[in-house]
Order: sequence, then C-alpha cells, then structure tokens
Amino acid sequence: MSEAPFQVFALHSSHDRAGFQCGSDPLDRYFQQHVSQDIRRRVTACYVAVSNDQRIAGFYTLASASVLLADLPGTMAKKLPRYPLVPAVRMGRLAVDQKYKGLGLGGALLADALAHAVRAEIAAYALVVDAKDESAAAFYRHHGLAALFQQPMTLFLPLATARGGLGL
Ligand SMILES: CC(C)(COP(=O)(O)OP(=O)(O)OC[C@H]1O[C@@H](n2cnc3c(N)ncnc32)[C@H](O)[C@@H]1OP(=O)(O)O)[C@@H](O)C(=O)NCCC(=O)NCCS
Repeated sequence: MSEAPFQVFALHSSHDRAGFQCGSDPLDRYFQQHVSQDIRRRVTACYVAVSNDQRIAGFYTLASASVLLADLPGTMAKKLPRYPLVPAVRMGRLAVDQKYKGLGLGGALLADALAHAVRAEIAAYALVVDAKDESAAAFYRHHGLAALFQQPMTLFLPLATARGGLGL
C-alpha cells in the first residue's frame, strides 16, 4: 500500500518552517516569525502538513470566534437562539507552499480544519474564514463556503453541513 503523501500534525518546535513559501510574504512571515508566540499566548492553534521528506507543505490556524446572528442568512438565523452572537471556529490562515500547489492539499487542509472543529468538545455553529483576496475567496466558495452578510471576504460553513460532507 502506498504511504499518504502528507501527514498533519500540530506545529512543533522540531518542524522546520524556514523555507516555507506560499507566494504571500505576510503569510510566510507570520508562519516563520509569529505563529509560535500566538500559540504560546493561546490565541491560536496551528496545524502543518508534512511531506514524506519532512518538509512543511502547508499550514492552517484555528481559534475561537463568533459571528453576528444578524450576519447569517435569515433561513439559518431563525433556527438559532436569539442571542446576538453565534459561536464559531475561525480558520485565520491557510497556505500551501508553492512547490505543493494544485495537488489537492489546500482542500485537504480545509477538510482537516473542519474535522477538528466538528470533533471539538466545545460547540461551534460554523467554521469562519478570512479570505486575504478575491482568489482566496473563490477557493473557499469552490468548497461550499458562503459570505457573511455584506462581507464578501469573510466566509462560513455550518459545521452540521461539514459533518455530513465529511461523513463524520
Ligand atoms: C488557496 C490555496 C490554499 C489553495 O491550495 P492548493 O493546494 O493549491 O489547492 P487545491 O489543489 O487543494 O485545490 C482544490 C480545489 O480548489 C480549486 N481551487 C484552487 N485554488 C482556487 C482558487 N483560487 N479559486 C477557485 N478554486 C480554486 C482547485 O481547482 C481544486 O478544485 P477541484 O477539487 O474541483 O479539482 C493556495 O493556493 C495558497 O496557499 N495560496 C496562497 C495563500 C492563500 O491565498 N490562502 C487562502 C487563505 S487567506
């Protein structure tokens, strides 16, 4: 049986982040210089996809969040409690190294993030993402996420929908 090309781990100090290049300098800089501090401060979690030759091929971050009930589509909002805020999990950043783009890894990391959020013991209604540009927003729409009300760069997917799609 062939080995999976990538394995996903929580970021650890033994992972070599130095050569990571996704094509966005702010994302590369954040991953190389700032994410460890955010993990220590407990304001984010970070997961990495590691290739068979131990290179970091991609990463994503997760943190607690909330969305305004009023920003969800009316059909969803009316089935939720009338509190102003709805609990969510934010995937603040997602990036794939340029050497590994187009192989399905970005989609696989999004699915992994959804699976983490679905399995978490602390309840959340949706995964929410911040797209850094229109191309990133198109990537998320391609995977079934929809924009919050009047916020084309902030997209969400209900975790009940994700659970069905992932077969969890
Ligand atoms: C966006 C990104 C994560 C995609 O990663 P990737 O591994 O190249 O994407 P995948 O190979 O998993 O693509 C999966 C699917 O998404 C589609 N897709 C990829 N990029 C897309 C885009 N910009 N717009 C629409 N669809 C896109 C692919 O065609 C593929 O479709 P298919 O499953 O129907 O064949 C990667 O290009 C990246 O790191 N970009 C720079 C950082 C960034 O923009 N991050 C986004 C969050 S801010």
